[in-house]
Amino acid sequence: MSPPTSLLSEAYAVLDANDRSAYTQPAAGLYPHQWLWDSCFIAIGLRHRDVQRAMGELSSLLRGQWSNGMLPNIIFSNDAAYARDRNVWRSWVNPHSPVDVSTTGITQPPMLAEAVVRVGQKLTPIERRSWYRKMYPALIHYHQWLYNERDPHGEGLALLIHPWEIGMDNTPPWMVELHEHQLSLWVSLIQKTHTDSVIKLFRRDTKRIPSDERFESIEALTMFDILRRLRRKIYDINRILDHSLFAIEDVAFNAILIRNNQQLVAIAHYIKEQLPPGLSSSMNQTKVAFEQLWDPFSANYFSRDFITHRLLKETSVATMLALYAGTIPVERARSLVSQLKDQHSFASHFPVPSVPLNSARFKPDNYWQGPTWVNINWLIIDGLKRYGFMEEAKELRQRTLEMITSFGCFEYFDPLDGHGLGVENFSWSAALAVDLCLNPIL
Ligand code: GLC
Repeated sequence: MSPPTSLLSEAYAVLDANDRSAYTQPAAGLYPHQWLWDSCFIAIGLRHRDVQRAMGELSSLLRGQWSNGMLPNIIFSNDAAYARDRNVWRSWVNPHSPVDVSTTGITQPPMLAEAVVRVGQKLTPIERRSWYRKMYPALIHYHQWLYNERDPHGEGLALLIHPWEIGMDNTPPWMVELHEHQLSLWVSLIQKTHTDSVIKLFRRDTKRIPSDERFESIEALTMFDILRRLRRKIYDINRILDHSLFAIEDVAFNAILIRNNQQLVAIAHYIKEQLPPGLSSSMNQTKVAFEQLWDPFSANYFSRDFITHRLLKETSVATMLALYAGTIPVERARSLVSQLKDQHSFASHFPVPSVPLNSARFKPDNYWQGPTWVNINWLIIDGLKRYGFMEEAKELRQRTLEMITSFGCFEYFDPLDGHGLGVENFSWSAALAVDLCLNPIL
């Protein structure tokens, strides 16, 4: 399939409309700030047209880095209109937070090393070296933070403390955990008395998007409740874990960590730097520990509870991101690919659904509970390619491009008929459409 030029120009128009000079907002209105993994995907697309802007997109993420190394999932716009967003998080309660910008106190999937490498591919060797040198210290600091703070038992897997950290906000395994273990007394009371409909009045997303395409109100309230509890512990991981808040070793996050560790090693080699020794051994441990997330009975990878090591056996597209990790045994990769091709499971007409079709929790139009997302497809395509599943990678690339060409750069898509859902003119859908267009699979 030759790249449709109209798709490219439409995608570039979206990226230009969302340009906020220091960064690209994910979408006007609903997402005005800078998000961590969004900027990584955006830079991967932007590099094809304007490598300087792609570099700026990633460098500006470093504005938000905490002095302990954390990269927050959101750097808030300083605009007076968003004082409420900044004030909900109050990042300044933690002494490690940056002084010039407000951020959240949590992170998002560590895609930065991948984005730095992809952008580097568009530079001359000399420019690439200086680009890598610029980004390397921050990347090392971030990955060290992931291991120091998020792997307190030194087991190799990073734990997450809020569903927003995985970036698949209402994915079923996490929502089941929330409902079963996390509703605090006041949230349960609201649920029992059905006053949750009042909450809708305060939500930004459901003012723009039909509420059946988003979180349930009670889930939104629980998200806020967890945030409040984290804030009370001033985002200090020791205090947080002391109070048995829930902590999950997420399969998608750790798969992304594995691949980004490899990219960080590649960056270090290129600039002839030695990785700190502790970091190298943690990285190796992650690849081994990841296999503990494999469930032989259902032939899937699952997230698990940090304390009990119980697997959260709700199948979601997260299992497929093990392909992106690239370190799982070939026979397990093959078994995942057979599910990708199974029409009762992940082979919908516009794949890959965020929840398989045969799951009781599949909802074609609800956010991360069924719809197809372009960033997830991009990650899976990349994994398929590296495992040598070329036909499958080609097919998924083509279906993804067809979907965006026919329906536009939406936030997410109905996996059955492909129609666009969520917000329109969504930056990562545009950016990754550009990348998929211009990176044909040989
Ligand atoms: C939603 C998505 C998250 C993304 C953010 C900004 O919260 O679930 O992954 O980073 O929007 O686009």
